[in-house]
Amino acid sequence: MRGLLQARIAADGPLGFADFMASTLYHPDLGYYARQVRQVGRAGDFFTSVSVGPLFGELLARRFLRWWQAAGTPQPWRLIEAGAHDGTLAADILAALGSLHPTAFAALDYVIPEPLPRLQATQREKLQPFAVRVRHLSNPAALASQPLPGIAFGNEVLDALPFHLVEWQGDGWHPCHVGCGPNGAFCWDTALPLTDPALAAALAPLGTAFPDGYRTEVRTGYGAFFAPLLAALSSGMLLWLDYGFARPDYYHPARQQGTLRTFSRHRAAADPLLDPGVSDITAHVDFTAVAETAIALGCRPLLFRNQGGWLTEVARDWLLAMEGKPDAGLLRQFQTLTHPAQLGGRFHVLELACNDPAPTAISAADHHRLAMAW
Ligand SMILES: C[S@@+](CC[C@H](N)C(=O)[O-])C[C@H]1O[C@@H](n2cnc3c(N)ncnc32)[C@H](O)[C@@H]1O
Repeated sequence: MRGLLQARIAADGPLGFADFMASTLYHPDLGYYARQVRQVGRAGDFFTSVSVGPLFGELLARRFLRWWQAAGTPQPWRLIEAGAHDGTLAADILAALGSLHPTAFAALDYVIPEPLPRLQATQREKLQPFAVRVRHLSNPAALASQPLPGIAFGNEVLDALPFHLVEWQGDGWHPCHVGCGPNGAFCWDTALPLTDPALAAALAPLGTAFPDGYRTEVRTGYGAFFAPLLAALSSGMLLWLDYGFARPDYYHPARQQGTLRTFSRHRAAADPLLDPGVSDITAHVDFTAVAETAIALGCRPLLFRNQGGWLTEVARDWLLAMEGKPDAGLLRQFQTLTHPAQLGGRFHVLELACNDPAPTAISAADHHRLAMAW
């Protein structure tokens, strides 16, 4: 990876950070996510809600079923999981759907868009018991000719999409490029002007009230990521779970060094130039930008809540069914997923309706929360 990046910089000059990140994570042979599959979990580099246990998948399945019933039990229907990684969440969701509602399960087209061959092979193996319901595609654009009602969703995938890094220097924003010193070490180059019109447009709403040297991240790829997913749904929802903030919190002047983190062996660090291809690179999600992009593509925000509140509501029937016969292991999973000091407060959920034929009403509380966010 190091040699490949050095050669690119020698040939083309400093690399934009989004380009650098796309190569280090997703280069088809050498990228962090392409080389191995054990990043998530105790033996890997970081935990996600999926690593907590199968309850997370079961609760997502319950939310999907609630949508399916409200949509008039369409048959067939479709779930598209982006960022399915090793297939664990898909297996948990499919197992729960199969036992909760065999009719919905039998009518389901579960699609995993997965560009990386090694991950796709791992998913196929893990999802063998559900093979009749699951399809793997290298590119979700292939679904546009047969759209179905359904939901496109992902857990911790938006934070893994490449982002630009920018620095405020008094006269305006400067993109951070990655150069290479005479000793071969990678270094920052913030001298190049801002020439990318998409990046300039994404920076415009942030304003100008930032201290010199303020660094932050901006993603311009949400539209390209959502468009094929939306084309695959005749009606339904986008549903994203991730860490992040609404724009006013994200770009607060006090957050001077942004949210970029690298993860390796459960250690967080902040220098993505040290070991490209060896550590994960991530930054929080600007949910306002996500919503604005989806709205521009015809979606309508339904809800933006923290994961704790959202899962607690989704789990209502599950919690009632457990009354009198509590399962300590499952309740521990529920607490980890929902407690404000654990995953419940740090993660947020954004639901957006797409092509809804009979627009779903949203509650006054959700309306208020959405209005606060954008
Ligand atoms: C942080 S991991 C999360 C994995 C899993 N969803 C979980 O919650 O445990 C991010 C995953 O998103 C995948 N990913 C990133 N960009 C993607 C894209 N454009 N299409 C499909 N998967 C993508 C990565 O390959 C990786 O498997």
